Amino acid sequence: MATSMHTWDDDTNRFAHAVIDYAVERVHLAKDTQWGAHPADVLQAAIAHAVAPQGVGGLEALRLFREVLLPACRPMDDPMNLAYVPTAPSVASTMFDLVVSASSIFGGNWEAGAGAIAAENQALRWLADLAGFPPDAGGVFVSGGSAANLSALVTAREVFTQRRGGRPPRYTVAVTEEVHASVRAAARVMDVDVLPVHTDAHGRMTGAALDAALHEHEHDSVFAVVATGGTTNAGVIDELDPIADVCQARGLWMHVDGAYGLAALCSSIVRDRFHGIERADSFGVDPHKWLFAPYDSAALIYRDPRPAAATHAQHGAYLDAVNRGDWNPSDYAYHLSRRARGLPLWFGLATYGTQAYTDAVDGAIRTAASFADEVSARPQFQLLLPPELSVVLFTRIGWSSEQYAEWSKRRAGEGRYLVVPTSWRGEPCLRICIVHPLTELGEIVGILDDLVSYQPA
Ligand SMILES: Cc1ncc(COP(=O)(O)O)c(C=O)c1O
Repeated sequence: MATSMHTWDDDTNRFAHAVIDYAVERVHLAKDTQWGAHPADVLQAAIAHAVAPQGVGGLEALRLFREVLLPACRPMDDPMNLAYVPTAPSVASTMFDLVVSASSIFGGNWEAGAGAIAAENQALRWLADLAGFPPDAGGVFVSGGSAANLSALVTAREVFTQRRGGRPPRYTVAVTEEVHASVRAAARVMDVDVLPVHTDAHGRMTGAALDAALHEHEHDSVFAVVATGGTTNAGVIDELDPIADVCQARGLWMHVDGAYGLAALCSSIVRDRFHGIERADSFGVDPHKWLFAPYDSAALIYRDPRPAAATHAQHGAYLDAVNRGDWNPSDYAYHLSRRARGLPLWFGLATYGTQAYTDAVDGAIRTAASFADEVSARPQFQLLLPPELSVVLFTRIGWSSEQYAEWSKRRAGEGRYLVVPTSWRGEPCLRICIVHPLTELGEIVGILDDLVSYQPA
């Protein structure tokens, strides 16, 4: 049991090593695909004694986490978790995240966190180079794609306002119906309107559709376009280069939300599909999705970071001591204090080399393509879209939403795999999203066999 909050004795030592040992065990061994949500009252009753004036001690708190709480959390890093956008943090990045916590780094400004920020900036530079951004591009790691989208759009709005010399009555951002919900959420937070842009048959924003939507809109209120580099539902990449043409012609900020898909900038197979990203004003990509880092981490990168700093830098008497000539990550998003949450990605890149990332992302893309071929080869299924990245949408011909839901819930409950239904163009269907290098083709093809032989309860 830990006897003291801040001094170190034998008990503390034993407890600290127990925590580390358990972390190693969890990364290496301990996960169970049957883990998942338990009712709140059951969980609350099990831990009712934990927070009390005297505490229960570190070992008991660890036991509660291990035996009660963690089994009530889905293992998002299981290779057969194919729902939403799962995660696959590497051993190095996960273990190093403990070191980041242990190091009490304030990642907000250079003066406090220079060493960490230098490493984060190296990881950002890798991403900026992959995108073809100029040498003075830069940005910051924020908590997730939602924070990245919001921070980029706030910068875009400010740039627009400055350029036109004042605020319009309303602001508008142009998006398609396939844009991630977090972009609409950002628009609500900012109280800006959304201009819908039609998609093509594959769910893409095209340059022509964007141009048509802007032409019809006729108001001087559109300050940004959000294109998607790999939609969450279908893994589809918008037509980035033609979109960049339209943005350039109209002087609009182009943000590319690549929370999931822009990881594939490092792919040797699909990099060409992102042609045009080099012309964007900003983009975001989440290492906690498909770049093998633990939660929570999103890289937000600006082609020209100066307007972002002018928009987001916080000022105040006690902040006057901060050297504004340094690279201060707090200035590039809506936040001040920040964990150096890009360090686990950096440590992973440094440990394994960037080629390992290319190989792992390519592996998922190949597995998805082979799975799609298996779907197409079976008469009981219909492939809805050829996969561009690692999302596959397909139907079990004749099944209803209720049948998908019943099957999905049953298999999740049994811990066999997690595949949840979605819809495509109004049609209920199944979706798998592969990010884990250990997801085996043979095992996911087994899901198709299961779907053929499945007998509803
Ligand atoms: C394309 C896209 N944008 C944004 C988000 C939101 O990211 P986060 O959950 O990290 O805030 C997601 C999440 O899945 C996403 O896929």
